[in-house]
Amino acid sequence: MIFRQLFDSVSGTYSYLLASRRGGEALIIDPVLEKVDRYLQLVRELELKLVKAVDTHLHADHITGLGALRDRTRCITVMGEQSKADVVSMRLSDGDRLTIEGLALEAIYTPGHTDDSYSFIMPDRVFTGDTLLIRGTGRTDFQNGDARQQYESIFGRLMKLPETTLVYPAHDYKGETVSTIGEEKAFNPRLQVKSVDEYVVLMNSLNLPNPKMMDVAVPANQHVGLSQDEIARHGGSLSASEAMAVLGRPDLALVDLRERGERERNGVIPGSLHVPYPALPEHLGAGGILNELAKSTGKQILFYCAFGERSAMAVQAAHDAGLASARHIQGGIDAWKKASGPLTH
Ligand SMILES: [Fe+2]
Repeated sequence: MIFRQLFDSVSGTYSYLLASRRGGEALIIDPVLEKVDRYLQLVRELELKLVKAVDTHLHADHITGLGALRDRTRCITVMGEQSKADVVSMRLSDGDRLTIEGLALEAIYTPGHTDDSYSFIMPDRVFTGDTLLIRGTGRTDFQNGDARQQYESIFGRLMKLPETTLVYPAHDYKGETVSTIGEEKAFNPRLQVKSVDEYVVLMNSLNLPNPKMMDVAVPANQHVGLSQDEIARHGGSLSASEAMAVLGRPDLALVDLRERGERERNGVIPGSLHVPYPALPEHLGAGGILNELAKSTGKQILFYCAFGERSAMAVQAAHDAGLASARHIQGGIDAWKKASGPLTH
């Protein structure tokens, strides 16, 4: 496995680059905007293909690199379903698997620092975001933080992991890089409490100043969405109800860009082809099935995904590949459901 812990000294943020092999797919956890050039250089040096960028939660102390990485690599942006970030292209729930080629991370919902905090588990390590820090825990006094929930996330979930599990947090301000669950259980001063009530009292007595970047970072991080309006202005979109009106037409090819788990959970529009978003480039190029389908049968491709983000990027990619008639369903399955569009499970 390729594993890199990357540090932003301004915000004290750790970001993590993971891939199963040189030349393979990669994902990055908690990227910082100012460091995006550095990440992409490393991705090139290791001959990786960045396919997913993930935030453990909506950050208050730095601006996320999710939007910039998406714009520059067309990677999928991922956060938890509770996140207030405007449009993230894939949303996870507790127990979902976050996968790339050769690697799978289990997403667990660990609220408390914020109400959208997730941790990501691998067999030997856990990425804890700001839920559990090294000899500390993330503050719980803003962004719908809740000390009681955090206690439950830490003691009820994270501390149940094997003691040898490596702990990789989203921040450190003292130069620590990694710990273990056993070590934190024994030595983390915040965890030496006898009850949830004692933990709540401890967390509510911290009186911390707000992060310097908070007024800038929180609003900026809520607006990482690709402007689907831009695609719509160029005629590349159908609303969910417009798409329902053309459903079943023989000259239309519906293409679902989501992953298998998302399809199983939320259903599929009847008659759709399935082309997961990361496989799109090979299918759009000369000789690819979508390229052939559009050119030899004259069918119009109509992409969709969960929220319309991946499909908006797919429209751009299809246009770049010469498939000028490709469009997408604005707002994705989310909008389709709200318009009571038919789904099969
Ligand atoms: Fe945070």
